[in-house]
Amino acid sequence: MGKLQLLCIFLISIGLSFQASPVFDCFPEPNGASQVSCEARGCTWQPDSSNKNVPWCIFKDGVGYSLDSQSGSTYTLRKNNGPKNPWGSDALEIKVTTKSIGNILNVHIGQAGRYEPPVDFPKDVASSSETLSFKTDTTNGLFSFQIVRDSSYRKLFDTSLGGLIFSDKFIQLATYLPSSNMYGWGENTHQSLKHDFSKYLTWAMFARDQPPNSGSLDTVNLYGVHPYYMIVEPDGKAHGVLIVNSNAQEVTTAPGPSIIYRTIGGNLDIYFFPGPTPEQVTQQYLKFIGTPFLPAYWALGYQLSRYGYTGLDEMKTRIQAVKDAGIPIDIGVADIDYMQRYKDFTTGDNWAGFSDYVNQMHASGMKLILIFDPAVEADYDSFQRALSANAKFIEWESSSQVQRDIQNLYPMAKDTKIMLGVVWPDKHVGFPDFLDSTGNTQKWWASEFVRYQKEIGFDGIWIDMNEPSNFGTNDAHPWYFDSDDHPNDAPLFCPTNGSNEWEMPPYKTRAVWKFGDASNNAFLASNTLCMLGVQDNGAQRFYNVKNLYGWSEAKATQQALFQSTGKRGAVVSRSTYPSSGKYAGHWLGDNTARWEDLRTSVIGAQEFNLFGIPYVGSDVCGFIGTTTEELCLRWQQMGAFHSFFRNHNTIGAPAQDPAIWPTVAAATKQANLFRYQYLPYLFSLHFTASKDGATVIRPLFFEFPTDEETYDLGYQFMWGSSILVAPVVYQNTNSVHVYLPTDVWYSLFDYKYGSLISPGFTTVSAPTTSRIPVFVRGMSIIPRQTPTITTTATRLNPFELLIAPCEMGRGKGVLYWDDGETIVNSFNTHNYHQFDFLFNTTTTGGRLTITHSRKASNINLPTLDIIEIFNFPNAPDFKSFTINNIKTNINVQTSTYSGVTKRLYIQTTGLINLTSADTIILEWSNAAKAVKVDLSNPEKLAALENNKYELF
Ligand SMILES: *[C@@H]1O[C@H](CO)[C@@H](O)[C@H](O)[C@H]1NC(C)=O
Ligand SMILES: *[C@@H]1O[C@H](CO)[C@@H](O)[C@H](O)[C@H]1NC(C)=O
Ligand SMILES: *[C@@H]1O[C@H](CO)[C@@H](O)[C@H](O)[C@H]1NC(C)=O
Repeated sequence: MGKLQLLCIFLISIGLSFQASPVFDCFPEPNGASQVSCEARGCTWQPDSSNKNVPWCIFKDGVGYSLDSQSGSTYTLRKNNGPKNPWGSDALEIKVTTKSIGNILNVHIGQAGRYEPPVDFPKDVASSSETLSFKTDTTNGLFSFQIVRDSSYRKLFDTSLGGLIFSDKFIQLATYLPSSNMYGWGENTHQSLKHDFSKYLTWAMFARDQPPNSGSLDTVNLYGVHPYYMIVEPDGKAHGVLIVNSNAQEVTTAPGPSIIYRTIGGNLDIYFFPGPTPEQVTQQYLKFIGTPFLPAYWALGYQLSRYGYTGLDEMKTRIQAVKDAGIPIDIGVADIDYMQRYKDFTTGDNWAGFSDYVNQMHASGMKLILIFDPAVEADYDSFQRALSANAKFIEWESSSQVQRDIQNLYPMAKDTKIMLGVVWPDKHVGFPDFLDSTGNTQKWWASEFVRYQKEIGFDGIWIDMNEPSNFGTNDAHPWYFDSDDHPNDAPLFCPTNGSNEWEMPPYKTRAVWKFGDASNNAFLASNTLCMLGVQDNGAQRFYNVKNLYGWSEAKATQQALFQSTGKRGAVVSRSTYPSSGKYAGHWLGDNTARWEDLRTSVIGAQEFNLFGIPYVGSDVCGFIGTTTEELCLRWQQMGAFHSFFRNHNTIGAPAQDPAIWPTVAAATKQANLFRYQYLPYLFSLHFTASKDGATVIRPLFFEFPTDEETYDLGYQFMWGSSILVAPVVYQNTNSVHVYLPTDVWYSLFDYKYGSLISPGFTTVSAPTTSRIPVFVRGMSIIPRQTPTITTTATRLNPFELLIAPCEMGRGKGVLYWDDGETIVNSFNTHNYHQFDFLFNTTTTGGRLTITHSRKASNINLPTLDIIEIFNFPNAPDFKSFTINNIKTNINVQTSTYSGVTKRLYIQTTGLINLTSADTIILEWSNAAKAVKVDLSNPEKLAALENNKYELF
């Protein structure tokens, strides 16, 4: 080997090690760093011409803490002599404490007495076959720790990368990752399901009223905060990581693969979920934070909404048009238009007769969801009742901070410290404090819903603007000054011109810097209230708890819904935090009518299932902007597979309900009929998610974690473990290039319906007149019902089973069934049925076993009339069917078998009464084989007579 070759090897290895060692950004502020400003900070100026967004001003090596002492599972760390934090004085001493909760490992880093989020996770444990270990390392005097999976010795988390910083308002923790197959973190618009570690990307997390931008890569923070991710390791095992921190925060995904996490308050309370399958990770995560609420059955129906109805008449007309087109629809939704000048709990002048209309809706099996914003105008009876009930609002810390020019306008608020802001109502508003530990606020909130529900009998609640959003904060000329639908109320100003520690912390995160800095009105308080505000009578600082506002409102609103309707209904919330799914669903926000937004919504729904909020979907056809016939059609087809399924549109945009275009109406009718037919399956998935912790919609890798092709298939998804959906998400496309992992798959759409489809990549036809590609996996039994115009009516129709056998000819499935609306206090006491289905293809025929494993009282079900079986090898003898060994009649007029397609379809009115016995066995024999008989052969003729072959 010559010198030159040696040199090459040397260079290559340097190149590799450079790539694998991420650097720490020392100058993330806007306007960029210069060599001078960087070095003035004590950092290194290192220009990088690669196009990987590598920061140029980086920390010098050696940032971190050294181990001082250890006592049991508590490690005391001391700030080392390495580089100092430019954003505040380093804490001299911090503690790292570990503990196990079942097989979940917890690592807490920080100081006692600092802020911790006031969330009340149940911390239930789902079992795991895997264990994790906590290891430490002190190489070079730097303390680091590793989380190791005991079965594979793989390091799942490894902070030997360095960079640990802990100060009052800047905390940084970095780790190498075992693989770049990382999913989650939110709420952001992700254009791919899997994160991209080929370059530096910093994702902001701070609840903000910020419409998603799907048009280009944009790492801006949206409405909610989810410091949670899942990783699929190289051997296909998965783990999850939750950081319980509610401050403004961000994560940089960087080459390595590695992540650098930064937050500006609290402690780092980190939980590691061992899996080992992605679905088990989810189950462990959801049991820990709280499993999702079970939506009312009707809430899985189709919803029609828009912002900008001119009045009740328009709402009625559009709903009627959809019904007239024969499109199944359950829910009418009214946005803020229905209110009297956007005040909660009031009804506008153009909405006379609303109450009668709601009664008509109810009579026809439909439901109503109304929007409510958290902020309440400071001059009407709801506000007065709040004060009388000692309800709390977000407040200024001291009277001296109160903005008198605003406060003095409102006699009711004049002598309070309530921080008044501006939202949709004409006058200033107060923001209820849902963290009020006296419970008075929550009680008053519920009583307002009880009162209003008597006026307008809504069934579900939509909570918006709960980041919370406030218009025009710190802005001398807010946008609404130029709106003819909003008075020029004085905007809220926070003390940003000094060095207020809450408004102007040293490190403001990408949540601010994405929008610039103070010179262009970018503050933490932008679009929201002042950070120095307080809640719970001063016990909580808004700076810390702002990201919990939507979570706390959802919790209080679920109680308000229960009290006002007496039923479980459904709440959907714009802002969410871990465990919001226990109280509410989520829609993916104010998207735009673009193909890119259709695509990101397919990814977004999968992510929110990871986050434990399975009642999720997008604004179908697109909210902002003008949709097109083709986009709306494709969105309706895809949205029919999302649990929360709502067409919603913005004010001023042309109507986009499906009845507007005959093609969209036809496609929507077809898609909705399919959805309504499969609702017993979708409902059973939600039931399982709520009872045991699970996803409803899940990425393909959840089911096939060792198949690398599934790792970034963001535009395909599964319904549970059995149904795969591959929507059309591109314009001018009449086919889908779909990937089916190695398994048995059958088409459930127009293309080769009921036939086996080979696994691998395949292009399938998907014209606008067809259902989008949907497949069922072998070994499945899917409960269905004959669909009709509402879920209410569909629930009265006969049940059906779709049996998709595996290679061995077997299948299994489950149906959960309750009355669809009773509040679930505990699944131990909840009144529900559970039926388990097993199917066998035997050598002589078929056998379906139905076990009634949980019985409800007084909940009667329609009979099971239809059984559809794919790939059944033999023609049945329709006269041979027995139920529990008693002969039963099959209607041969409506039942069929095709020797070509191998599809067996059994349809007989009243075939099986599901509740008639604990175990029901339906069995049949194959028809005798047709044989070609050579009548000239006496031997064969004798055999025929002996064996009683039937002649066809
Ligand atoms: C900061 O702003 C407040 C409110 O606008 C004003 O009263 C005060 O004088 C300002 N302070 C400084 C230091 O500019
Ligand atoms: C189906 O067949 C399997 C394998 O032969 C057997 O173990 C199982 O008990 C059968 N189940 C039913 C419901 O017949
Ligand atoms: C099914 O059987 C149960 C128990 O015998 C009976 O109460 C119920 O009315 C039957 N349902 C139907 C639809 O026939």
